[in-house]
Order: sequence, then C-alpha cells, then structure tokens
Amino acid sequence: MHTRIDTRLINGNRIASSIKQEVAKQVTELTARGIQPGLAVVLVGSNPASQIYVRNKTRTCRDLGIHSEQFNLPGDTSTREVLTTIGRLNRSDHIDGILVQLPLPRQIDTSRILNAVHPSKDVDGFHPVNVGKLCAGNPSFVPCTPAGIVEILLREEIPLVGQSALIIGRSNIVGKPLALLLLNHHCTVTICHSKTQDLARMSSRADILVAAAGSAGLVTSKYIKAGATVIDVGMNRAETMEQVLHLFGKDPTRLDTFRSKGFCLVGDVHPLEAVGVAGAITPVPGGVGPLTIVQLMQNTLLACQWRRGQDKRSLP
Ligand code: GUN
Repeated sequence: MHTRIDTRLINGNRIASSIKQEVAKQVTELTARGIQPGLAVVLVGSNPASQIYVRNKTRTCRDLGIHSEQFNLPGDTSTREVLTTIGRLNRSDHIDGILVQLPLPRQIDTSRILNAVHPSKDVDGFHPVNVGKLCAGNPSFVPCTPAGIVEILLREEIPLVGQSALIIGRSNIVGKPLALLLLNHHCTVTICHSKTQDLARMSSRADILVAAAGSAGLVTSKYIKAGATVIDVGMNRAETMEQVLHLFGKDPTRLDTFRSKGFCLVGDVHPLEAVGVAGAITPVPGGVGPLTIVQLMQNTLLACQWRRGQDKRSLP
C-alpha cells in the first residue's frame, strides 16, 4: 500500500494556449510579408470522433490565422480517388501541410495514402521518410501527439535524462514515435503492449508512464510508481452509470456530464486510483489532447517556413 502523496494535475489547456500564442505571433509576422500558411485536412467517411477532431483542427487554424481547406469525401471513396486529391494538394501552392484523418475506411490502402503525401507537406510525420529521419535521430516532422507529450514533459520540467520511461501501446501514431523521441531525450525506454506479461510489475518501475492503449481505466494504482509522472493518452467513453461511479466516484461534474451527454470521457488511467500515487498526471479531457492540435499548427508553420524559404534548414 502506498502512502498517499499530493498529485499535481498538469494543465494541458494552459500549455497549449501559450504555444498557440507563439505560433499566432509567427503566423502574423509571415502574413505581414504576404505569406499565409495553409493546411489541408482530408476526411473520408463519417466517423463521429474523426469529424470532431477535424472540426477542432480547422477551428484552431482559423483562430491562429492559418488558411485551411477541408475535403470531405464519401465513405465509399476508393484509394485511387484519395490519391488524386492528395496529388492535387501536393501540387497546390496554397497548401503547406496535408493531413489525412485516420482511421480510413476499410477499402482504402492506408499505407499507399500516407506514402503519397509529399514528405515536405507531411505535417503528421507519417511518411516513411519522416519516420526514418526520426528513427535516425534527425527529426523533421514529428507526429503531433508524441511531440505534444514531449512538450508537456519539457515545459513541466520533468527530468528526462537517464529516467525510465515506459509506454503502454505500440501504435505508429503514438507509442513507436514517442519511444524514439524519448530515446533522443536520453530516457531509458520500454514499450509494452497487449501481449506483455505482468504489465503492472513492469510499469510500476517507470519514472514516466505513458498510457496509450485505448483501454478505459486500465492503469490502476498498482501500475504506478509512487511519485511517477503519468501521461494519459486514452480517449475512451464511460457509457454506464456503474462505469462512471467506478472511475470517478461521486464527482458531481462527471455525474452532470454523464446525465446530459449519456457518456463521460475517460483516459487509460483510472483517475481515482492514480491520484495520491502519481507525482503528476495529465487529466482527460484537458491533458494531452489540446497539445496534439497545437503541434499540428506548429508543424504547419514549420512546413510553410521550409517550403517558402523562410527557414535556413533544408526541406525534408
Ligand atoms: N487519428 C487519431 N490521431 C490522429 C493523428 O494524429 N493524425 C491523423 N491524421 N489521424 C489521427
């Protein structure tokens, strides 16, 4: 049994808004020289979560003065048709960054689509050239959620050098790129996943624990080393009152949300269990999520500066 300690809640919205201000300032400077960064977002089908993510991305572009174009393609679009749209965007002079919202419908060959985005416009960092550069320790575009997590750790002054970081989840979007980034920051990195044996024993040794498994409330107190920094990447729905009470107790705000919406957002970390054990934790919502979007804006700005010769570094 742990002695209870004070757990600091990391405010992702506050960190995101200070990065937003930095990006907005640079966008204004570029615009004054007649250059407006542009982002194209491609959405295929009508996945409700994807629709919300895409809407938030275009809204943030508007807030920051970034030009954005959204392409909504029907759910039965073919790989070839998406490739045609991407080809056009690769050649468009108004567009610096191209984002294809994932997951794509089943009939579409996702890897062909990601390979078709020109590496210099690949603001998601999913093209093999950009994955390879990150792997070689020479990153250009870095996937937004992992980049946002590192930004949180740096701005919260969490020590990284020589610290043990353990990531639960091995996705190409979060787990794998985050492992490479943390390695570049001199952490000792372990990646675990659904087949890992005795996950709780392994994760309870980590100074930095990142939960990106997509499993509501998976990480309970026995997974967490006392005083560890816990980063929760999960975005799940608690859809029964029983689940809400189990995860949040009688927290009136959560109960209100559940009554009005019929669900509550919950991460991969069990909130009641983590508080009192972790040293610091990112909440859901309001932790990692806001950082993902601002990193996309940051990557779009970088793409613009590189492509339009406003930055000395070479194009990817
Ligand atoms: N779906 C979930 N996360 C992401 C992301 O970071 N980028 C894209 N394109 N799709 C996603």
